[in-house]
Amino acid sequence: MNPVRVCVVGIGRAGMVHATNFKNNVPGASLAAVVDADLELAEERAKDLGVDLFFSDIFQALDRAEIDAICITTPTFTHAEIAIAAAKAEVHIFCEKPMALTVKEAEEMIQAARKAGVILQMGFMRRFDPAFRVARERIEGGEIGSPMLVRSLTRGPGLPPRWACDLRTSNGMLAEVNSHDFDTIRWLVGSEFERIYAEANTLKCFDLKEEFPDFYDNAIVSLRLKNGTLGMIEGSCPVDYGYDARAEVLGSEGVILIGELQDTAVVSCTKSTGLVASNFPGWRERFREAYIAEARHFVECIIEGKEPKVTGEDGKRALEGVLAANKSIQSGVPVSLGGS
Ligand SMILES: NC(=O)c1ccc[n+]([C@@H]2O[C@H](COP(=O)([O-])OP(=O)(O)OC[C@H]3O[C@@H](n4cnc5c(N)ncnc54)[C@H](O)[C@@H]3O)[C@@H](O)[C@H]2O)c1
Repeated sequence: MNPVRVCVVGIGRAGMVHATNFKNNVPGASLAAVVDADLELAEERAKDLGVDLFFSDIFQALDRAEIDAICITTPTFTHAEIAIAAAKAEVHIFCEKPMALTVKEAEEMIQAARKAGVILQMGFMRRFDPAFRVARERIEGGEIGSPMLVRSLTRGPGLPPRWACDLRTSNGMLAEVNSHDFDTIRWLVGSEFERIYAEANTLKCFDLKEEFPDFYDNAIVSLRLKNGTLGMIEGSCPVDYGYDARAEVLGSEGVILIGELQDTAVVSCTKSTGLVASNFPGWRERFREAYIAEARHFVECIIEGKEPKVTGEDGKRALEGVLAANKSIQSGVPVSLGGS
């Protein structure tokens, strides 16, 4: 069988992770081309990756390269246009979180993929991480009874790219860093957001606050799910000490903790240093296996014609949560979410 030919669009930080995986770690896939608005970067990265074809926009790639699927790793405000162009060309879509800037864009992406009969998978890789996956299975199996409280936090080590500091192009830290927590909570508990209240502040990056008036670098979100479960999301970026992604679900009959600061079981202890353990320097290291597993799942779904485990609808629901939280930050009051 011919390999699924993947084109990675946006060959920055996340793009390189996915391009490397599609090239080396995904059976049944080949990396056919890369696209970046910065053509010099596209050329340089194509050379590093051993790919012949590189372009400066998705339209050229769809026109001139033979591709079956794209992986969207561009800034959030470009996702919808790229995904819709791919769908029109009957090309399958893997899209990094956050799905889009607005719910309208997300809905247009879902519609376009549905109409063209192509797969639209969202990049919520935590669902493919062994710890998060096992926790979900145990919760679903009733091990901790019915969920009562759920907490999820993400703290990033360094500042994201500049476009992600501007709420107008990214929806801010809650979108860029904490989209995963919004998805994790609804996935772990199996219910949708009913009401969200959020507080945010700039407590570290005062220069960015001057440049981008809506910028914040710390946030707390309290929420209520439709099944009555109460939840909390915490975000902070940059924290400098490393990447930190943890969650906890308290049920009527027990508790499940997911994730830890330490990345291996190796701990040393000397008189001068005390206990020393290593932590995760960044998201690439913490979720290395999960990025590979989600890419494999995407290609498997294309080959077998299956619905992906993480859909555009999931991307839209997480985005609704982020937007409600930002609205609450701006208005100072809780925001109710509609729908079922
Ligand atoms: N799942 C994760 O853990 C994870 C981690 C990091 C980033 N991301 C997501 O990946 C996406 C990209 O983030 P990043 O940190 O890699 O950003 P980045 O700024 O490092 O890279 C984005 C690249 O896209 C290029 N670009 C911009 N507009 C373009 C366009 N219209 N067409 C083609 N190329 C274009 C830029 O030149 C840049 O090289 C975002 O949605 C982000 O949230 C996800």
